[in-house]
Amino acid sequence: MMEGDVCPGEVKISRNWGSMADWRHEIRLTGRKSVHGSTMERAQLSLGPNLEAIWGMSGKDFRRSSSLDSPIHPCATIRNTPKPTSVQSVAMFSDTPALSAPDPAVGQETYANSRRDMVMTEEMKRVHQYYSPNDLYNQIISGLEELGKDLSNVTLDDLQPVDEFHIRGDTATKELIELSGFTPDMHVLDVGCGIGGSTRRLSHETGCRVTGVDLSDEYIDVAHRLTRLLGMNEWVRFHAASALELPFEDDCFDGVWSLQMNMNVNDKLAWLKETFRVLKSGGRAVLYEVCGHKNSPPHYPVPWAQDGSMSFLVPPDTFHDVITAAGFYVIVWNDKTDLAQKAFAQVTEPAGPPELPALGVYMLVGEDIKTKAFNLRRNLEEERVNLIETLLGKPGP
Ligand SMILES: C[S@@+](CC[C@H](N)C(=O)[O-])C[C@H]1O[C@@H](n2cnc3c(N)ncnc32)[C@H](O)[C@@H]1O
Repeated sequence: MMEGDVCPGEVKISRNWGSMADWRHEIRLTGRKSVHGSTMERAQLSLGPNLEAIWGMSGKDFRRSSSLDSPIHPCATIRNTPKPTSVQSVAMFSDTPALSAPDPAVGQETYANSRRDMVMTEEMKRVHQYYSPNDLYNQIISGLEELGKDLSNVTLDDLQPVDEFHIRGDTATKELIELSGFTPDMHVLDVGCGIGGSTRRLSHETGCRVTGVDLSDEYIDVAHRLTRLLGMNEWVRFHAASALELPFEDDCFDGVWSLQMNMNVNDKLAWLKETFRVLKSGGRAVLYEVCGHKNSPPHYPVPWAQDGSMSFLVPPDTFHDVITAAGFYVIVWNDKTDLAQKAFAQVTEPAGPPELPALGVYMLVGEDIKTKAFNLRRNLEEERVNLIETLLGKPGP
C-alpha cells in the first residue's frame, strides 16, 4: 500500500511515518479506551513487506510482529467503520484526516497576525508574567530523571503531578471527560490549556483531536515539547493565544474544554462569546471553574494568582448569567466544592523552607505553592471560593 491508498470504507494511508521507532509511539497511543470499540476486537493490519501485521486486540493489548527497523507505511487515518473486511483493513480511529495535514481550523496567518497584534491589557500582562517560569521543560525533564523515569517511555501518568494544574487534577479530568461525551471524530479546543496535561489526557481517553491555546508562550512551548515526548503530536497541537481573541474561524470546533482559566479573566463575557463563536452549532463546552463569593474575597496568594490584581472571581450565579448571556444553554451544572474541600482537607500551613517533590506544579507558579495550597484550603472551607463543573450547549441544528 502506498501513501494515499484507501481500502474502501476502511483504511486511508495518509503519510509515510518512516521508522518503526516513530511508529512504536503510535501503537502505544492507539491503545486509547475510546478506540477500542467492537471494531477493535477484530482489527488486523498489514502494512508492507517488512511489517507483517499489527494486531489490535480487545482492551489495551496491542502486539506487533515486526522488527523495529522495518520500513513501514502505516495508516494515519482509519475510519470508524463497523468491521474490517480484509487483513489490510483496520478500524482503530475515527476519520481524522486533519491529523496528518495542517490543522484546517487554524488559520496560521490569522493566528500569527492575531498573536503579533494582540493587545495585552495591564492585567493580562500580569497574568502572563505570573505563568512564565524559566526553563520549565528542562526542569521537568530533570524531575523525571530524578524519579528514575525512562525518558524514551514517559507516560501521561508520569507527568500528572506537574501537568494537570487544576483542583483534583487527573481525577477531575477523567470525570470531565465522562461528562463531555466527546467522541473520536471530534476536534476539541482547550482554552487556557497550561502545559497540556488535560489536553493530552482528553485526546488519549476519547480519541479526539485537541488543539490547546494558552496565554503563556512558555507553557505552550513546554506543552508542545511534552506532547512530542509522548509521541502524541499528531493528535494534540498548541498555539499561544488569548482566550479573548481566539485565532480560529467561526464554528470550527466540535467541542470546547476549559479548565480553571476564568479566574484570570476579567472580561468573562468576551471570553465566553469567543468560545461560543468558535464552537459549531450543536456543539458542547465543558467548563471547570473556580467562582467566588460576593462579599468575601479570597486569601492570597492562591495557585492562580499572587494577589487580587490578577484574580477575578464572580459568584456562581453571576457566572451562570454570563454563560447564558454569551448564548450558551446549560445542560449540566454541578457544584463540586465539597469534593475540593475534601481534596485539600489535609493541607497544612507550611513552616520553614519548602520541601518540594521532584515534579510538581510549583514548577509552574513558584515555590510558595504550599502557602497557595493552604490558602486555597481556607478559601474553600470558608466558602470564599466554589468549584463548578458545567456542560454547556450551543443551540444548533
Ligand atoms: C490554573 S492554570 C490551568 C491550566 C490548565 N487548564 C490545566 O488545568 O492544567 C490557568 C491557565 O490559564 C491561562 N490563561 C489565563 N488567562 C488567559 C487568557 N486570557 N487567555 C489564554 N489563557 C489564559 C494561564 O496562562 C494558565 O495556563
